[in-house]
Amino acid sequence: MLLNSYFAKDLFQNKTVFITGGSSGINLGIARNFAAVGANLAIVGRSQDKLDAASAELRALGAKVSAHSADVRDYPALEAALASAREALGPVHTLICGAAGNFPAPAEQISPNGFKAVVDIDLLGSFNTCRAAFEQLKATQGNIIFISAGMAFLPYAFQAHVGAAKAGIDNLMRNLALEWGRFGIRCNSIAPGPIEGTEGVRRLVPEGSADLLKRMIPLGRFGTSDDIGQLSVFLASPLASYITGALIVADGGQNLPGSGAWTQLIAAELKKANG
Ligand code: NAP
Ligand code: COA
Repeated sequence: MLLNSYFAKDLFQNKTVFITGGSSGINLGIARNFAAVGANLAIVGRSQDKLDAASAELRALGAKVSAHSADVRDYPALEAALASAREALGPVHTLICGAAGNFPAPAEQISPNGFKAVVDIDLLGSFNTCRAAFEQLKATQGNIIFISAGMAFLPYAFQAHVGAAKAGIDNLMRNLALEWGRFGIRCNSIAPGPIEGTEGVRRLVPEGSADLLKRMIPLGRFGTSDDIGQLSVFLASPLASYITGALIVADGGQNLPGSGAWTQLIAAELKKANG
């Protein structure tokens, strides 16, 4: 395929992208990028108000949209959402498992129910979504993108529950890549770094510390929803037709060993010495 057809407005024409958590933040950014290449969009979340606002935004970009209020922990509700999305837009070609919950808390203060809430939304919710979408993905020889995070492969303080859930998601991704390759279904994960203007950053970046944290990221900035949206379009497109079972880290280098405080201290020391 010629590279410039990757940018064609109709690359995803008549293709349905089903996005859990598509009503806000990174996942809405992913939806916007699929709208730019002609996709039909089905979005899922719990809050009807958020779904209405996101639908209006995506329709203004020219996309056909169906919105479904459902909790990803509720399997029958997801089955119903997938059936009605199929009716409105056609079978799912790309599934984005993006719905998630997060709050920072020291491990000794996370209640069993708090741990369970996050694991149920992130991990069980992702399995539910894939399981309920399987027949449609099989019919379209589609693909799945899971939204992971750095704490899946490195421990982050106060994120024991989220790290466990996201690590589980990445293992589920590899398992499904192994099992569903025979149906032509590709499965990959994206692990974003901190993304500007999102709920995740509002919850996890202490007020006043954004500049310091940006200095600890080799590329010197937080990411944007478009950084993740463009990567998602690439991964779901025929340009990535031989990629399955991969975890793609899009974090500006944040999780590279050496990108933390030590590097900052040495850099400050060198600056002092060299002027
Ligand atoms: P967000 O705007 O809060 O997105 C979460 C979405 O999931 C919302 O649309 C929310 O809508 C939906 N959701 C939550 N619980 C749900 C449930 N039980 N059933 C159905 N939908 C549910 O947060 P975000 O920061 O953009 O995060 C989006 C994704 O990126 C998450 O997977 C997160 O772990 C990942 N991530 C974020 C960052 C970051 O910097 N923000 C970094 C790495 C990874 P309702 O509340 O209306 O249900
Ligand atoms: N610190 C410690 N525990 C917390 C907490 C916090 N900030 N927020 C919630 N919990 C605990 C609750 O106390 C409860 O445990 P308990 O029954 O032992 O008291 C448990 O988590 C479940 O809380 P509940 O409010 O019933 O969960 P929910 O299913 O309605 O919501 C959350 C799930 C908690 C993850 C909620 O923050 C949410 O809906 N988040 C979605 C948006 C989001 O997190 N975006 C960022 C993505 S990176």
